[in-house]
Amino acid sequence: MIEIRRTWRTICVAVCAIVASSAGIARAETSLTKEEARGKMIFEQDCIFCHGVKGQGRGIASASLDPKPKDFTDAEAMAKLSPETIVKAVTEGGEAVEASPVMPAFGQQLSAKQIRAVVAFLATLSKK
Ligand code: HEC
Repeated sequence: MIEIRRTWRTICVAVCAIVASSAGIARAETSLTKEEARGKMIFEQDCIFCHGVKGQGRGIASASLDPKPKDFTDAEAMAKLSPETIVKAVTEGGEAVEASPVMPAFGQQLSAKQIRAVVAFLATLSKK
């Protein structure tokens, strides 16, 4: 009888651990601030075509591009870009920051607030 109880307890502990860890995963995905979450929506609409769903620069349009769209998950490369450069690239296009002119300007299409949000979201992609 005691054996059975122990077995149940082990199972309960195991199930709890699984539930707790999957809750942890869910939390990691939803830990964006409101601004970052807004930026994510803009990213999914306007950027993944080239930069890819995960921001690695492997969007469906990227195959024929040279240079490739920036890999936003590369923390070292991203650290070399100042926030001002990133905002300028998104607002005025790649050419304005001496990058590829294929990187479009979004200043007409997105407000300054929307651009700040998408840039805030980009910063989350290279954070571990
Ligand atoms: C038509 C394809 C395309 C789309 C759409 C696009 N990009 Fe890019 N982007 C590029 C390419 C290509 C580069 C690489 C430029 C280079 O390295 O010379 C780039 C580079 C960048 C850079 C780095 C600029 C630098 O100084 O190196 C940022 C930041 C960026 N994109 C943000 C965005 C954001 C945010 C969006 C959506 C709002 C977006 N891009 C949409 C193609 C695209």
